[in-house]
Parts: sequence; structure tokens; C-alpha cells
Amino acid sequence: MKNTSVTFREAKKTSKKLTMLTAYDYSMAKLIDECEIDAILIGDSLGMVCLGYPDTLSVTMEDMIHHTKAVSRGAKNALIVADMPFMSYQTSVYDAVYNAGRLVKEGHAQAVKLEGGAAVIEQIRAIVNASIPVMGHLGLTPQSINAFGGFKVQGKSEEAARKLIEDAQKIEEAGAFAIVLECVPARLAELISSRISIPTIGIGAGKGCDGQVLVYQDMLGMFSDFKPKFVKQYAAIGDIMKGAIRNYIAEVQDSVFPSQEYEFKIDETVLEKLY
Ligand code: KIV
Repeated sequence: MKNTSVTFREAKKTSKKLTMLTAYDYSMAKLIDECEIDAILIGDSLGMVCLGYPDTLSVTMEDMIHHTKAVSRGAKNALIVADMPFMSYQTSVYDAVYNAGRLVKEGHAQAVKLEGGAAVIEQIRAIVNASIPVMGHLGLTPQSINAFGGFKVQGKSEEAARKLIEDAQKIEEAGAFAIVLECVPARLAELISSRISIPTIGIGAGKGCDGQVLVYQDMLGMFSDFKPKFVKQYAAIGDIMKGAIRNYIAEVQDSVFPSQEYEFKIDETVLEKLY
């Protein structure tokens, strides 16, 4: 059965842990969906893991719609959440609703995710009022990398921790159905999770969250530019892929591939006429 934002809200009531992974194309979305994941996020992390940018800031609405379309065609049951890219919602409430609408209408997302707390509450409220479910995102919000001065754990001082708790409560009050907590100390994430009635989805925020999300290239060992401390690598798929690719190169160079089983045949009588 297709998961929805309502499935997420219900999960918190029954203490069922939620699972989410990123995907950016049809094949990967299909594969992840077949494993019965609860949600797939088309993260703006695609700027780094798919497009090779150093951060997420260059990702456009066109990039997000293109990849969201592909993922939504591949996933039958998972809830499809699309990230709103940098400057697609910060500029005005109008832009926020308009661009969230494009992700649903053109990309076929079921929900959108946007970063920030108090500063984007009006945007969250307006998108929710337009009947588009919103997932919030607090803590290390990568679109604020220049303001943070790097990828750093957030909420460590009393003031910063209080602000995170207040922001989470405001996001819930504005109508969001879930909140991603990224790079937040585990005990603080647990406290935030106990203070709101919508699920928290952690990434580098400990097991006290109501669910977890990871970037699939990180957890499968396919992205080697850097490895955040919170990433557990469940497989070394990058090494397996490299082994297979090297094998292919060697077999082509040695005329081992393609062997007869991979060839198409032509009738000898037809062939004779060609000589
Ligand atoms: O862009 C992304 O992939 C994300 C997750 C890391 C939560 O926002």
C-alpha cells in the first residue's frame, strides 16, 4: 500500500521506527522500494552525489523536478518526498508555494522538505494550506553552509539547543508532518522527539529519533569524496562495481567478451551471398 504523510503521523503513535533513504533515479528508486522502505527522499544532496558540486547550493528546481519524476516512476509504495532547493522558498511565501506545487505537479512528489526553523514558518504554513505535506529540516541544514562556516554539529550550547526545540515546536504548529534532524547531539534529538507529536527523522542524531535517513551512496559505500562520522557503510558496493568494471575492461581487451552466447546469428546461405 502507498505510504502517505498520514502513515508517518500514525507511525509515531504506535512507536514504529520509520525508514527513509535518498534516491535520484528510476532504477535505484525501484530497488529501494522493493525492500519496503517507508519513504524515499529526492534530496538536494543530488548536487553532490550525482552532479559533483562541492555543496547543495547550485541545485535548481529543474534538477529537482527532473530527478523527482524519475524516482516517482520507480517507487510504488514508498512516500515520495522532494527537497526544495536553495532559494526556491527563502525568497517569499509565494515562491515557496509555487515551487512546492511544481514538485508535486511536475515531479509527482507527495510531499516536500525544506530547511530552517522560525525564518521559514510562514512558508511551511502556506504550503500546508495548499494541501502539500511538508517535512521540516533542522540542525545542520546544508543550504546554510556559508552561514554555519562548514559542516558542523548543531545545538551544542544551551541557547542553540533551546532554539532547536522551539523551532521544532513551531514547525509542528505550522502543520508539518515530520522533521529531519541532521547532526544534532543524540540526547538533544531524543528530547526534541519527546516534545513534539510528529515524527523526527534523524541523520547523525542518534537512535532517539522516530526514524532514520541516509544518503544511499554513503550507506552502500559508493561515494568516496568524504565520509561523515554518522554514516554506517552497510556494503562496499563501490569496490564491487570497480572490480566488475575492471573485469569487463580486461575481457574486452583480451577478446574474451563478447563470447558466442552474447552474439546474434545470421543464416550461412545469406552470408555466402555477401562474399
Ligand atoms: O539532501 C539530502 O539528502 C538530505 C538528507 C541528508 C536528509 O537532506
